[in-house]
Amino acid sequence: MLAFSAKTMLVIKTEKELKSHLSSFGNEKSLGLVPTMGALHRGHVALVHRAISENDTTIVSIFINPTQFNNLEDLKKYPQSLIGDIQILEKLSGKIIVFAPSVEEMYPNGVTSVPYQFDGLDKVMEGAFREGHFNGVGTVVETLLKLINPDKAYFGEKDFQQLQIIKKLVEIKDIPVDIIGCPIVREPNGLAMSSRNKRLSTTLRKEAGLIYKTLETAKKKFGTESAKSIVDWVKNQFKGHPYLKLEYIEIVDVETLMPIKRKQDNGKYRAFMAVYANNVRLIDNIALN
Ligand code: PAJ
Repeated sequence: MLAFSAKTMLVIKTEKELKSHLSSFGNEKSLGLVPTMGALHRGHVALVHRAISENDTTIVSIFINPTQFNNLEDLKKYPQSLIGDIQILEKLSGKIIVFAPSVEEMYPNGVTSVPYQFDGLDKVMEGAFREGHFNGVGTVVETLLKLINPDKAYFGEKDFQQLQIIKKLVEIKDIPVDIIGCPIVREPNGLAMSSRNKRLSTTLRKEAGLIYKTLETAKKKFGTESAKSIVDWVKNQFKGHPYLKLEYIEIVDVETLMPIKRKQDNGKYRAFMAVYANNVRLIDNIALN
């Protein structure tokens, strides 16, 4: 069976089935795409709501993309919950189609990624600490965009560097789609929602609230203090912390993602952090102005 309908929802597993379904669409109907790796939470759901409100049909792709994991252990531990994900989406709208392909379906010629030139956007922060990560993201997102050909595709600012790289990807590959960035959805203590949060103990989840608390204070400081003194202050907040280990804190220009040298009046800046909570890697960021 190529596709199966969960209670009310169409779940498509193959490219062939997807193509045949999409070919029955009229050109006048708008199509939104929300790419995900599943283990859906309120952050994903916010993207899906936005897509539903702006399009006639929304496709949510659920695919744990092996080529973007630089760490095999992280890939193995990545939570999988397709049935639960389908149940979440079913409650949102009958206008959603789920595309949940296999690895063979997405990588028929072998599980490798394409090398891209993202103008240095991929060389800093996540790109510096996760070798090959953005080539993997670029490869899977380019494949999805070309397969589905949506009018709009939705990405979260939680992965702000990814969002900027996808905008660059569609520019360099001339893919006709609007890339829409959506705000970060947080847990009550400020922790950015993430599929990886499922791996945190109650204590770690509580302690990880420090990440956003620190970013909020950094934002307050940004009006009066230099980037260097803010970076030093953030490092100090995590020094000797029993559970949280800071991997990086960067204050960068949002367009180039290069570290700030001197604040420009018309410049836009963001602070980015990666933190290990035991062996779970968490990222977050905040607009500073
Ligand atoms: P995944 O981590 O599942 O995230 C899917 C989308 O949800 C991304 O655009 C991400 O930025 C967004 N998202 C995750 N947590 C969010 C939050 N707390 N608030 C707002 N948006 C949030 O990102 C990926 O998957 C993959 O790299 C993918 C783009 C699917 C390519 O494989």
